[in-house]
Amino acid sequence: MEPIRVGLLGLGVVGGGTFNVLARNAEEIARRAGRHIVVTKVSARDLVKAKSRVGDAAQVVADPFEIVRDPSIDIVVELIGGDGLARELVLEAIAHGKHVVTANKALLAKHGNEIFALASEKGVMVMFEAAVAGGIPIIKAIREGLTANQIEWVAGIINGTTNFILSEMRARGLPFADVLAEAQKLGYAEADPTFDVEGVDAAHKLTLLSAIAFGVPVQFDKAYIEGISSLSQTDISYAEELGYRIKLLGVTKARPDGIELRVHPTLIPAKRLLANVEGAMNAVLVQGDAVGATLYYGKGAGEEPTASAVVADLVDVTRLHTADPEHRVPHLAFQPQSMSDKPILPIEAVTTSYYLRLTVDDVPGVLAEITRILADASISIGSMIQKPREGSTQADIIFLTHEAIERNVNAAIARIEALTTVQSKVTRLRLENLA
Ligand code: NDP
Ligand code: HSE
Repeated sequence: MEPIRVGLLGLGVVGGGTFNVLARNAEEIARRAGRHIVVTKVSARDLVKAKSRVGDAAQVVADPFEIVRDPSIDIVVELIGGDGLARELVLEAIAHGKHVVTANKALLAKHGNEIFALASEKGVMVMFEAAVAGGIPIIKAIREGLTANQIEWVAGIINGTTNFILSEMRARGLPFADVLAEAQKLGYAEADPTFDVEGVDAAHKLTLLSAIAFGVPVQFDKAYIEGISSLSQTDISYAEELGYRIKLLGVTKARPDGIELRVHPTLIPAKRLLANVEGAMNAVLVQGDAVGATLYYGKGAGEEPTASAVVADLVDVTRLHTADPEHRVPHLAFQPQSMSDKPILPIEAVTTSYYLRLTVDDVPGVLAEITRILADASISIGSMIQKPREGSTQADIIFLTHEAIERNVNAAIARIEALTTVQSKVTRLRLENLA
């Protein structure tokens, strides 16, 4: 049988890895796909570098539009990144009847609805396994493996760069900037690393997970996003002392009144498997009503782990491209006419537990005032520690609360900060027991 012909847009970390894996495992992949998968054209900006990488195996072109409009290409693999040029290329490829494989979560989180609608109209597949959690087949697991379930919630460490930074800060006490530079050197970070550090990349991925878990459109603009840049070593240490680890966690939960969609630094009990996911590893915990909890773990970034997911999509497209489009797995797991319009809830409506840290004058009655405010706001305290500040008359107080509504916690924090005996802002972190 004729090989299926692939045009590769971008030959950087993931593009290069994809090219290598396809070449190295060509026979094994063909045995699975039923025919060979061959990259015939590659586009990159630096043509000399690209040519030296692919040799005579594929034609290297400067204009990516030459690939998406080429009638001989069956599948376009978009590995350029960003949501400007990449969006134009993907839409043009679909308009030309090509199937698309992409690792670009930024593109799909912002323009997924438009892209999937056009793909459905044209009867082509847009596959994005590599866009979430690198090499972990989490899209396949949720979209196909868990279809019997009502998914209740998904919680995951889905950004390798920030997990690497938090792990190194906790275990080796290394400064934030040094660890970020190392993550960039290792090819984990986004072209603009603030996407990683400020939680945006994780929110892109969580938006996609939420859509396929609950059958809602992608709604990145409604996600609550808080990164790790203002996280302090003090809180990492206090959390440790209290039996918790801090991770940048993406949480999406189905509630009767809507869907929670949030990314923020989160305390997780140290004994949980998720709390022990270190370095650039990713892990996603999915709670389904029938199956219970299932956990998916693996490399969330890097050349070949991500290529593994890209190639898996290429094999799926090769197997399925002759199938009736109506009978393929829907892009967002649910049939387009059966999507839900459940709203994404604002962060003030979220219910979770909290870690609150503040500095107070160590005088009689201060604790009573604070606990009164918490009680008034229906916030129940799970545990508390008080640490005298050496050489001063002040103390740090840390509360862990039971579940409370964020709006109540915000109101209580405002009242606590107004007390004359409270000498700091309240540091507020969310806590998930993941039981
Ligand atoms: P790189 O920066 O390493 O590679 C990007 C490639 O795209 C390069 O070949 C570059 O060409 C090419 N390119 C960039 N801009 C243009 C342009 N304007 N016109 C033509 N070509 C262009 O990125 P990655 O491989 O790391 O990431 C690619 C995608 O994969 C992104 O969407 C990213 O979010 C996603 N991803 C990355 C992961 C990772 O671990 N790195 C993991 C999962 C997903 P040249 O080199 O010649 O400049
Ligand atoms: N920058 C991303 C990360 C790459 O660190 O997880 C993988 O999507």
